[in-house]
Amino acid sequence: MSKTVFVLNGPNLNMLGKREPGIYGGNTLADVERECVAAGEALGLTVDFRQSNHEGVLIDWIHEAGEKAIGVAINAGAYTHTSIALHDAIKAISVPVIEVHISNVHAREAFRHHSAIAPAAKGVICGFGTTSYILALNALKSITA
Ligand code: DQA
Repeated sequence: MSKTVFVLNGPNLNMLGKREPGIYGGNTLADVERECVAAGEALGLTVDFRQSNHEGVLIDWIHEAGEKAIGVAINAGAYTHTSIALHDAIKAISVPVIEVHISNVHAREAFRHHSAIAPAAKGVICGFGTTSYILALNALKSITA
């Protein structure tokens, strides 16, 4: 039976493709969803792919993942750098959570170097463009096998 993973996206990721393409590339979030679903199928994972601009919605989805999924990949956007509430939500569930970024946040502005959620995450993947998501799915597959 295929196992479910949640791929969660935070604020402004609905603008992918239009938003700062020099940093985030030309793929839309729908493109990323298609690639994640296909990669998931190849790995035997059912990908439940979601995006919200609202912190509380992301928190509700993390709690839901704790009941329904074997793991989570989350690109929390700018909430990564500020949200203790997302940190606490990740700590509140027992399935592994991988922090994902399209850009290499460590090569950018200093305010992007700190992650409020990394200490609660199993690991962090950043800087590989939208392939970061596919790497996270592979990581989830290998740590939950
Ligand atoms: C991002 C990096 C964050 O600093 C930024 O706020 C984003 C996107 C990334 O995927 O590279 O919204 O998470």
